[in-house]
Amino acid sequence: MPYYSDDVIEEVRSRNDIVDVISQYVHLQKKGSSYFGLCPFHNEKTGSFSVTPGKQMYYCFGCGAGGNVFTFLMEYENFTFSEAMEALADRAGIELPKQEMSGQARAEADKRNQLFEINREAAKYFYSLLRSEKGKHAMDYFTKRELSKETMQKFGLGYSDKYSDDLYKYLRSKGYTDEVLKDSGLISIDERRGAHDKFWNRAMFPIMDANNKVVAFGGRVMGEGEPKYLNSPETMIFNKSRTLYGLFLARRTKKDQFILCEGYMDVIALHQAGFDNAIASLGTALTSGHANMIKRYGKDVYLSYDSDGAGTKAALRAIPILKEAGITCKVINMKPYKDPDEFIKALGREAYQERIDNAENSFMFTIRILQQDYDMKDPESKTKFYQEVASRILEFQDELERNNYIEAVADKYQISFEQMRQMVNRLGTKVGLTSEKKPLKSGVQKKKTREDGMMQSQRILLTWLVEHPGLYQKLKAYIEPSDFTEGIYQQVAEELFGQFAAGQELNPAKIVSMFSDEEQQRQVAEIFNTSVEGIEKQADFEKAIKETLIRIKQNSMEQRRKALDASDMAGWNQIIEDKRRLQEMEKLHISLN
Ligand code: CTP
Ligand code: MN
Repeated sequence: MPYYSDDVIEEVRSRNDIVDVISQYVHLQKKGSSYFGLCPFHNEKTGSFSVTPGKQMYYCFGCGAGGNVFTFLMEYENFTFSEAMEALADRAGIELPKQEMSGQARAEADKRNQLFEINREAAKYFYSLLRSEKGKHAMDYFTKRELSKETMQKFGLGYSDKYSDDLYKYLRSKGYTDEVLKDSGLISIDERRGAHDKFWNRAMFPIMDANNKVVAFGGRVMGEGEPKYLNSPETMIFNKSRTLYGLFLARRTKKDQFILCEGYMDVIALHQAGFDNAIASLGTALTSGHANMIKRYGKDVYLSYDSDGAGTKAALRAIPILKEAGITCKVINMKPYKDPDEFIKALGREAYQERIDNAENSFMFTIRILQQDYDMKDPESKTKFYQEVASRILEFQDELERNNYIEAVADKYQISFEQMRQMVNRLGTKVGLTSEKKPLKSGVQKKKTREDGMMQSQRILLTWLVEHPGLYQKLKAYIEPSDFTEGIYQQVAEELFGQFAAGQELNPAKIVSMFSDEEQQRQVAEIFNTSVEGIEKQADFEKAIKETLIRIKQNSMEQRRKALDASDMAGWNQIIEDKRRLQEMEKLHISLN
């Protein structure tokens, strides 16, 4: 962990009971030794989200989200680890030691804080200018664009003055130095011309991060002029490819999808019309960073990009990026209007809702656009179009899904289901993905299944060790951390075995804190929350433990043997010894009593 010692982290963690903390966000009900509720990270009606006080961890059996109390705040509030530490220390009344930060880390944190403050000050400054005599023109502009006072307030809209250095003077008067102002992106400082503001005489749109902190601005000319929008440059606190405009509001939506559009005014107009799930990637192309953020909120996407050529192109680029992140995406048709803002002004919210309801499947959208490049009256061109479609259908892994798309294409593009299917299959055989009759599983897939099985075995044993602490004494002669061969499992096992060996009270949630990456924290929660179906009787359970143990042992022996050098005599002797131990294990009777 970057700033805090393990002891401090552990103190903060242990003084914030996970059930208490999560109860502030999720309604939990006790069932057995755990609490259950509706998962806040994906949409569900069944309550797969579990919080286990004994482990001080949460885990969702539906979407796999999981971790300890820090992970929860990082995921739910989009906090950084340090922010989660601060919030929880505060909650427990613990004073965090300041001096633990290294000089450089502290300087960086200070700088970030200052940049946040400067952006907030600037937002307040622009906000009050808009509502003053000087801002009348801008107020008229927003009003003409049919924004209500309430909407303007909700999005913190403002105005930057005609003077080219009044914000600079204002911020200097608040005590900020030239050096930090330069890094805020709001002021440029030039040897010859002195300091001047980046934004002047523009309608101002503050850009908030997911936690509602101002990180940058967009400023629009009121009327004609170039550039239409001017935006803050990237800074320490503003990363364009990780910022989604409107997310600070949309993250609270009850809907299962975000509406993804292109611009400031689109997001604002949609929210004003009651679509509380609108966000935008702000003129920059959608990145996988954006897609992963959307995924983290468990949402799918309605794409509402501009209906012109550029918007269509941007949509075609965004669709595979969303798909790659596992997001289902549908495309909203706004014709004959250019963007959601214009559409809603002209036809209103009900009409837009209808367009949402009729949104087009993203694959069908893609090939509809593709078809425009082919002359369907020309047999050769038409054939090429079908071939292109066939190759795209092949990208779907699942046969049923492929057939569904073949059917949809056949319905729409003057070709029979059989013909289209043959085309797909023939092409598939050629590239070796599928055969005429049944799709062959590729080698890659097979290998993956075996690995998945081994991971599952290793996870389940670690879960059992935690849930039945007496087991460790019985198994410790047969298994060691190095037998856990998959990913981070070995580190997790080492720490867990260490806790057992030291005779400490078990503390799986502490193990989560060893990892700074949220995905790894999730994996730790997964490891300790693995369950298998169908084991009811104690005798079955004891048998399952033994079989799992043997499977894990065989796997690690096999891996060691493969890596062994032919001349490594000690290594070979070890293998022989392991084999003997394995035979011993087969005769072992593990009793839980
Ligand atoms: N954009 C930008 N710089 C520009 C033009 C556009 O950063 N010179 C970004 C803005 O975030 C803008 C988005 O791209 O909101 C979409 O651009 P465009 O469709 O041209 O603008 P609209 O959102 O329709 O803006 P308006 O309705 O105010 O004209
Ligand atoms: Mn517009």
